[in-house]
Amino acid sequence: MTNEQLEKLLSELSLEEKLGQLTQVEANFYLEHTGSDVTGPEANIGLAPDDLKLMGSVLNCVGADNCIQLQKTFMENHPHHIPLLIMQDVIHGYRTQYPVPLGLACSFNDELTEACARMAAKEASLEGVHVTFGPMVDISRDARWGRCMESCGEDVTLTKRMGSAMVRGFVHDGGENTVASCVKHFCAYGAPEAGRDYNNVELSERTLRQTYLPGYKAALDAGARWIMPSFNSIGHLPMTANGYILKDILRDEWGFDGAIISDYNAYREIQWHGAAESMKDVAEITRHNGVDMEMMSATTFLHSKELLEEGRITMEEINTSVMRILQEKNRLGLFENPYRFADKTAAESYILSASCRELAQQAAEESAVLLKNEGALLPFGKDMKKLALIGPFAAEKGIKGAWACAGRDEETVSVYEGIKTMLPDVEILVDAGCSYNLLNDTPVDVLTANAEKAAALAKEADAVLLCIGEYQDYSGEGNSRCEIRLPLQQRILAEKVLKENPNAAVLLFGGRPQDITDIEPMARAILYMWQPGTMGGAAAARLVFGEVAPSGKLSMTFPRSVGQEPIYYAHQTTGRPVADPNIPGAPFPYTSRYLDMPTSPLYAFGYGLSYTTFEYSPVTLDTDTLTVDGTITASAIVKNTGNVTAKESVQFYVRDLIGTVARPVKELKDFKKITLAPGEEIVVSFTITEEDLRYWGKDLTYGSDAGTFHAFIGPDSNTQNYAEFKLVK
Ligand code: GLC
Repeated sequence: MTNEQLEKLLSELSLEEKLGQLTQVEANFYLEHTGSDVTGPEANIGLAPDDLKLMGSVLNCVGADNCIQLQKTFMENHPHHIPLLIMQDVIHGYRTQYPVPLGLACSFNDELTEACARMAAKEASLEGVHVTFGPMVDISRDARWGRCMESCGEDVTLTKRMGSAMVRGFVHDGGENTVASCVKHFCAYGAPEAGRDYNNVELSERTLRQTYLPGYKAALDAGARWIMPSFNSIGHLPMTANGYILKDILRDEWGFDGAIISDYNAYREIQWHGAAESMKDVAEITRHNGVDMEMMSATTFLHSKELLEEGRITMEEINTSVMRILQEKNRLGLFENPYRFADKTAAESYILSASCRELAQQAAEESAVLLKNEGALLPFGKDMKKLALIGPFAAEKGIKGAWACAGRDEETVSVYEGIKTMLPDVEILVDAGCSYNLLNDTPVDVLTANAEKAAALAKEADAVLLCIGEYQDYSGEGNSRCEIRLPLQQRILAEKVLKENPNAAVLLFGGRPQDITDIEPMARAILYMWQPGTMGGAAAARLVFGEVAPSGKLSMTFPRSVGQEPIYYAHQTTGRPVADPNIPGAPFPYTSRYLDMPTSPLYAFGYGLSYTTFEYSPVTLDTDTLTVDGTITASAIVKNTGNVTAKESVQFYVRDLIGTVARPVKELKDFKKITLAPGEEIVVSFTITEEDLRYWGKDLTYGSDAGTFHAFIGPDSNTQNYAEFKLVK
């Protein structure tokens, strides 16, 4: 439709039809079996059956036939036959699941991430989805927060790069088998006080702009046409009611002309925050703040008529939002083809196809992070006779992760299945040894007896894989944890098993950084698999037996203890820097230290080992003086000094030594993933411009200072391999 036709359509709509366009409900308000059950206060949002004929959008309509049937019936009943927008949480796959985003970000691979999102978009669009509620680009620096699994981790640059890659994959050229992207959760949802989901967020304007906003902006710049305000309040103001961020920054500063959709029931939660007296007030507040569509509540639909009559909102405000929704529907071609790419037959032949599985497996392989590998214990030789697979994840198929959309555990390859398929002649002894339940109350003597039984298997095997960690349902929404240690039963099992056989390696699963300080000294090798998705077990087999070398680098810092949270590499020195962050109670008493623990993490951001070793030359610069319109090229020679071909994510950090405010000890500015054969070396170069050095200074202006900087090139955020340069103005 042309804009004139849209304007004409808008002019013909009744007020109820307009308000319906601004409302999204669950598909199971229309259909029986959609795979989503609405419970609690959301089950009844006050709409009458006839109101449902006027809605603007549905979420959670799974299956091409469901989407086609729903759309057909709906349009027949709608007075102006306006098609529904069908939206879904396609976060790390639709049916074929690749690793949770926190894991995929460890690949430091833009192309792979984009390809995964592209595959997800194709599966989803064939099943009738128009818009995905993704990517989630909330900066996550607190492992207590369960939704860190859905994020791209702690770093601004990594989040911008991975989030943009996901948007490109989803949206592509807007053509065949694409979906529109709704970036979320706007904003700073990942910084809740105490790491507790939905809690208040306290940020300075500087930290908000320097750290928490750039990821959303990058996703919008990459083509996301929707954005979703977050459940949290910032400075006690609920985000769905935050006009400063939703209007002054998003609309006015950034020029965003797409649509804003609330999170699930977040409108009514403004009242539950205690920031509105009634649902009618909520409808007024959100209208003034330019939130366009209301997800799974109906304050707009039920109260706007009165608000108009009382002059508390204007028809222009309503028309503006309705026009945005009609324009997004039009942009997707829904007026010409309301079913878009829904095609049951094509879906059945593409979903979970070999190409989807291969890509998901590659993603799982490149997301895995080798944290330890003493004496090159890994990879195991394929010529072994007997392998002991011990632990609750030895044969567990629930490794697809939270927010797994239409993914099914029964379609996931377990570690046992992956290894059995690869090495059918190896005898595999399996014993779960314990559960993964966090709140297990089994008596310790029973736990010990079970662990000793499992350890007996370890004793008789040639090698052992201890498969432990956090179950997929213990991260994700609403799943914050106070304690992020491995559960007691797993710590007992690890202690018994790891001492029984020197050839014992640990495969760790989880959706967040976990405190593995207890088992780290006992384990010779630790491979972090994250929640690896549909092909997780197959990827684990190839990694453990050396068909592919691990290349993952941590997207989020691993603490020694939850007491260090939030912990991240781009921290401040403070006025009392610790002499040696690796020594507990570092020598001089009055420093920013812990008495009982080093201030350093167990594993730093960007850290990850390989089956080979890489050597970095000192950093060289083509000039040590940067002018405002000039550039500096920083380079290092990276050499594979081991004996297997492997990938390495070379990281480029910059430190601003003096600012008008304190600056982080370093900030990731770029990264490049390379593949080197044994003995091969290449020059890896990065370009620095004045723009790369800008930040929000003392008076909150965005700019750079003349002065001294360090340019680091290294394998992780601990690198001290740098060269010094000056910016002159
Ligand atoms: C949830 C989540 C959000 C999701 C939405 C729809 O509560 O916060 O990420 O997109 O509801 O499922």
